[in-house]
Amino acid sequence: MKIAVVGTGYVGLVSGACLADLGHDVMCVDVVAEKVAKLQSGTVPIHEPGLDDVVARGIEAGRLRFTTNLGEAVEPATFVFICVPTPPAEDGSADLTYVEAAARDIAAHIADFKVIINKSTIPVGSYLRVERIIRERVPAQIEFAVASNPEFLREGSAVFDFMHPDRVVIGTRNDRAAGLLTDLYRPLGAPLIITEPETAEMIKYASNAFLATKISFINAIANICDGVGADVKDVALGMGYDARIGFEFLRPGPGFGGSCFPKDCKALIRVAEQNGYDFHLLRGVLDVNDEQHRVIVRKVERMLGGLDGKRIAAWGLSFKPNTDDVRDSPAIAVLNDLAAGGASIVAYDPAAADHGYSLVPGLERAPGPIEAAHDADCVVLLTEWNEFRWLDFERLRSVMATPAIVDARNFLDAHTLRQAGFDYEGVGR
Ligand SMILES: NC(=O)c1ccc[n+]([C@@H]2O[C@H](COP(=O)([O-])OP(=O)(O)OC[C@H]3O[C@@H](n4cnc5c(N)ncnc54)[C@H](O)[C@@H]3O)[C@@H](O)[C@H]2O)c1
Repeated sequence: MKIAVVGTGYVGLVSGACLADLGHDVMCVDVVAEKVAKLQSGTVPIHEPGLDDVVARGIEAGRLRFTTNLGEAVEPATFVFICVPTPPAEDGSADLTYVEAAARDIAAHIADFKVIINKSTIPVGSYLRVERIIRERVPAQIEFAVASNPEFLREGSAVFDFMHPDRVVIGTRNDRAAGLLTDLYRPLGAPLIITEPETAEMIKYASNAFLATKISFINAIANICDGVGADVKDVALGMGYDARIGFEFLRPGPGFGGSCFPKDCKALIRVAEQNGYDFHLLRGVLDVNDEQHRVIVRKVERMLGGLDGKRIAAWGLSFKPNTDDVRDSPAIAVLNDLAAGGASIVAYDPAAADHGYSLVPGLERAPGPIEAAHDADCVVLLTEWNEFRWLDFERLRSVMATPAIVDARNFLDAHTLRQAGFDYEGVGR
């Protein structure tokens, strides 16, 4: 099949490269010429495990190509995937500017049957806007279909997730499009849910809002555990064995971040409002989250007896491990508060995007975790990269001014560190 993918970010590039790996002829389009030039030369501009190999295979086989020329990609394609950003607007609703611009551009190149598939996360009913934009521009005798096909991949394991989805959701009222998309996704062997576009769009928002709720819930429980002396790790374990609850997303930390959960929760609250429903449960989830990074800041402040003039080593900047993505990272929120309190901060992250370091005033960058900790009064672990688990902690202790660790992810072994002479504090333990 010939496929066009509009937008080569985390979703578009992974989707395009994986579809090429499945044997399709894929042309990816982006408006950023520099990014396209890099991709054409085989350089992957984001950190995503396994993606370099999949992209290289696709280019080598001649099935994966990149262009800034939308017509070149769209005209021969049967499937056109829209994978452009949907950032939050001022009022919290999803800003559809990029999606609408992509729809207008695509419409100018439709001369035969195409399925235009929205993979961007857009509020319930927005597919109608895409359909209307295209219908207004394409001659009446030309048939096309618009489908909603929300993406559930997780940054950090996006290639694996695309190739092994828990489910594939297809929202369309067009039987021909449903059949073609079923054929496209069948090789992945995942359950297919074919439904109305509104329902598909709602499935995406409901899923992200539910996961965010689990995180805020366990963060709230962790904060109570801190007060009563219970261990949230065992609480989560005891809860997780209940099959109705499960273990996933019950790890407390500095709050959720990234480019999806905060914006999708806000957008769903707006959709609810516009339909006369006050989604106060989800507002509470965001309130807990907005507060949670300050819980970590207060722990550091207490441990050091104040922040002013203190030197702090920050381990991790990305919003979660195995990604370079720093969008809405809770690590950045914690570090900004620590800096505002007068601390000087030296950060290390194995992959965080360079611009992440400029998001905190005065932040210094170190080449490794031990280097970051030289003369530090405290280490704050903010992102659970595996390399932090296996460090030489004796050496770490010897380079620090005072051996103190605030582990915002409950990632390290508290017992071992205390035995090694560290003052250690986790979350809810
Ligand atoms: N990142 C995730 O983990 C994830 C997961 C599921 C769903 N989503 C959703 O997928 C969508 C894309 O997210 P992302 O993280 O990949 O975004 P991103 O910012 O990483 O990438 C978007 C890309 O689209 C390009 N672009 C913008 N307008 C364009 C246009 N008119 N034509 C061609 N290219 C254009 C940008 O230059 C950029 O490269 C969003 O709606 C997001 O909510 C993201």
